[in-house]
Amino acid sequence: MQHQNLKKSKLKIFVSLFFLLLISGFYQCKSSLEDGLVKNGADSTAITAADEELSAKSTGKNATLKSAFSFPFGAAVVIDRLEDKPYIDILKKDFRSVTPESSMKFGALQPSKDTYTWTKADGIVAFAQANGMRVHGHTLIWGKDGRTPDWVVNYKGNKDDFLKLLKDHIQTVVKHFKGKVNSWDVVNEAFQNNGKYKSNIWYKKLGEEYLYKSFQYAQEADPNALLFYNDYGQEFGGAKLQAIIDMAANCKKRGIAIHGFGLQMHTNLNLSIGRFSENLVKLKNTGLLIHLSELDIAVRDGQPEHFALSAKLNTALAAKYKAIVKTYLSLPVKQQFGITTWGVSDRNSFYNDSYPNIDHDYPLLFDKNYAAKPAYTAVIEAGKGI
Ligand code: G3I
Repeated sequence: MQHQNLKKSKLKIFVSLFFLLLISGFYQCKSSLEDGLVKNGADSTAITAADEELSAKSTGKNATLKSAFSFPFGAAVVIDRLEDKPYIDILKKDFRSVTPESSMKFGALQPSKDTYTWTKADGIVAFAQANGMRVHGHTLIWGKDGRTPDWVVNYKGNKDDFLKLLKDHIQTVVKHFKGKVNSWDVVNEAFQNNGKYKSNIWYKKLGEEYLYKSFQYAQEADPNALLFYNDYGQEFGGAKLQAIIDMAANCKKRGIAIHGFGLQMHTNLNLSIGRFSENLVKLKNTGLLIHLSELDIAVRDGQPEHFALSAKLNTALAAKYKAIVKTYLSLPVKQQFGITTWGVSDRNSFYNDSYPNIDHDYPLLFDKNYAAKPAYTAVIEAGKGI
């Protein structure tokens, strides 16, 4: 009798468990079916909210450009704007590296022969030091006469006089910032698209020696500084990229230090990521450092001179930033020198310099009111591997 009762109660427990499993299975199916519907767009509000929550969780509420990358994420800065509170706040919160946008150029530092003006550049360095930021110097020599002061372009002298001008400028500047500026764009934009040297006053007087001498003089002045060659269009490959890679190989042969390449990356929404990636691999194969040194993405292609940033363009901008950053992150970590955007907000972009309404282009991570754009979150996500 007792044995029969035990059997009955075991059966009851088994049946209840069976029904319990059946009911919970039904609810699980129901909720995953609902999830499926939501993911397939049956409830578009729910998917946006859910995705936003997921994105917030995965990037971390307090994620910043500073925390998302192992290398310093940087911005080009202008001294006058260091009085602008939102500008400073963003720099402090998000950036670990600054590049003076113009204050370290030849004409800014030596506007006339042997007269040096350090105030603006020193101001940027002091700001960076006070806030624990790296300073990347830009640029000792620029391969374009229009960007070299007239007094140099019109200087009357022979080869030795020009070598002295070159050496004096580079060594005075590098020594002035020694220990404070640990990396330099030594030469900027020396090559044409066909791979030939651009003709400029240095080239006319010294031939291609001017470039090698520039690196040599910079290294003599600060043997610890990291020395870069900086140029635009390397992402497209071709003769120009090959000339740059060959130049770096020649440096090596001659025992001249060159530590990396600055890819300016003033680019736009049409950039082919495949092509960028292929050419990045060619640079990677040199083993040198790679800096995306002036990144911004123009969205104005096909737009009138003044236009508003549509949600569609804003989304496309975010996607392109993310793809570029992800591609960069495919480099070996030891070759990732950093990514620097050319400015902080659209308000400060050089594209908008001569357009007081600031609606000429929208190439940066923060809008004209210093609010983070979707591109900002996209870059952080890329940094976190999302
Ligand atoms: O400082 C003077 C100011 O006193 C004067 O009132 C004003 C009148 O135009 O000009 C100011 O100088 C301007 C300077 O920027 C500082 O804002 C120059 O005219 C202007 O030509 C200069 O433009 C800079 C340009 O390089 C030339 O140096 C841009 O801001 C800067 O974004 C741009 O940066 C270059 C990189 O160095 C190399 N790669 C390409 C990149 C974009 O062109």
